[in-house]
Amino acid sequence: MTFKPAQWPRTLRSQAWYGGTSRDVIYHRGWLKNQGYPDDLFDGRPVIGILNTWSDLTPCNGHLRDLAEKVKAGIWEAGGFPVEVPVFSASENTFRPTAMMFRNLAALSIEEQIRGQPMDGCVLLVGCDKTTPSLLMAAASCDLPSIVVTGGPMLNGYFQGERVGSGTHLWKFSEAVKAGEMTQEEFLEAEQSMSRSTGSCNTMGTASTMASMAEALGMALSGNAAIPAVDSRRRVMAQLSGRRIVQMVKDDLKPSDILTKPAFENAIRTNGAIGGSTNAVVHLLAIAGRVGIDLTLDDWDRCGRDVATIVNLLPSGKYLMEEFFYAGGLPVVLKRLGEADLLNRDALTVSGGAIWDEVKEARNWNEDVILPVEKALTSQGGIAVLKGNLAPKGAVLKPSAASPHLMQHRGRAVVFEDIDDYKAKIEDDALDIDETCVMVLKNCGPKGYPGMAEVGNMGLPPKVLKRGITDMVRISDARMSGTAYGTVILHTSPEAATGGPLAVVRNGDMIEVDVPARRLHLDIPEAELQARLADWQPSHDRPDSGYAWLHQQHVEGADSGADLDFLKGCRGAPVGKDSH
Ligand code: FES
Repeated sequence: MTFKPAQWPRTLRSQAWYGGTSRDVIYHRGWLKNQGYPDDLFDGRPVIGILNTWSDLTPCNGHLRDLAEKVKAGIWEAGGFPVEVPVFSASENTFRPTAMMFRNLAALSIEEQIRGQPMDGCVLLVGCDKTTPSLLMAAASCDLPSIVVTGGPMLNGYFQGERVGSGTHLWKFSEAVKAGEMTQEEFLEAEQSMSRSTGSCNTMGTASTMASMAEALGMALSGNAAIPAVDSRRRVMAQLSGRRIVQMVKDDLKPSDILTKPAFENAIRTNGAIGGSTNAVVHLLAIAGRVGIDLTLDDWDRCGRDVATIVNLLPSGKYLMEEFFYAGGLPVVLKRLGEADLLNRDALTVSGGAIWDEVKEARNWNEDVILPVEKALTSQGGIAVLKGNLAPKGAVLKPSAASPHLMQHRGRAVVFEDIDDYKAKIEDDALDIDETCVMVLKNCGPKGYPGMAEVGNMGLPPKVLKRGITDMVRISDARMSGTAYGTVILHTSPEAATGGPLAVVRNGDMIEVDVPARRLHLDIPEAELQARLADWQPSHDRPDSGYAWLHQQHVEGADSGADLDFLKGCRGAPVGKDSH
């Protein structure tokens, strides 16, 4: 793909606020001058919005004000005018009921912050899980030149001599306590070891996955994803990105030039190779929807099916992001995909050139971290999309995090009507369940929870854990943390709260899972299924005002990205009217 840069110089959109001598312009320019900016900064140079998701309550992004200073330095050096703008920051570990409910609200508010203000280009300063997709969605809908800078992962955690991965070990330690293998005191002692430095989760969880997706899509400079938050090279990356966005504005290199179908195919294959989070499925579908790219669950299965998982990171493998960086990071993975003919080499990136040119010289410095394909964690690492009468619009499973012996399984359903029902029953030794059963959790989808919480990796019953069993088949319409693991079937669509077949599963029904055949089947007669569906009644326990109502009314299914229906598409960034 050849990109032809626009003519420079030309008049940029920020000049509608700052160029000329009209009363309105004096109004805009004069107010900004109260910050001490000299006249020549308003001469038509690119105004770059640094959209900063820093917040004390988004600890994963707690260092982004510091990083913003390096972005600004790069913008000044390249002849731009940086303006730092705080934006909605949906923290994964803080927001209730779930940060996912606010991804779309963040995207909506940030889109309008871009469109309504004098920016010619944007630096998307992100890190924690939802911050990356929400800003990418907003930037895609505005289509101003934009570049992603992530905050980088935390350093490795260690406890009792072992690596401790963000999230992953929270689940492991919690189950070890329930199984009687770890004391509560040890669990509390382990707490601090999980978060040793500033930065995002150090596993290949959703934050690291989305940083990798941004790089694979071409929306970040090569090598951005893996640099640890506290490494000086993270600050260098921020400064270089500041320089680069100024040239992108001059060239008019926009998200719609970069976010093409081949770019999404590259990202999907990359997700398979890194053993990335299932959350990437809903986020990439939503981002694609903002640029009008026809991306579907079938594309996920088609592109990811033959991709081996070669990145040996928790939760699928054993290392952490710090080691991934030392091994060479994502460019090594992209190079390996290119060599295997699994990369659209010509896809354009923020560099203005082809992705292959960015990665073809990459070197692997540790073959136990980025594995040779013959030692891959799994040869079929992509997201498996299952369909059948239990999931007519699809459900997803991450093979690299699942147990091989459960990939074909028939078991008796043990049903939880919602997450409260699960919590009330799971620790009861009288619960009729063993490791051959299939745990079914309903009403945790985009409308049901609401927001589609990360509760799909239901913890196993203690009485099963105590017998040394570590995995069972679990099915829900929920999501799962990217740091989690297990034979967990997620995003079942249509969701139970809208009357999808999941809603009518009953205790004792037999369920068949066949991952190689991509099949998810409720083994009851078709007439019985249709009768149950006809009898199904929606819950009347729904929000009737506020954002929760808006979300409930307009959120789409997980199979199409769980965006709000009226936010799909690219609306551009016209300068609009001025009321002053
Ligand atoms: Fe924020 Fe993991 S909770 S990156």
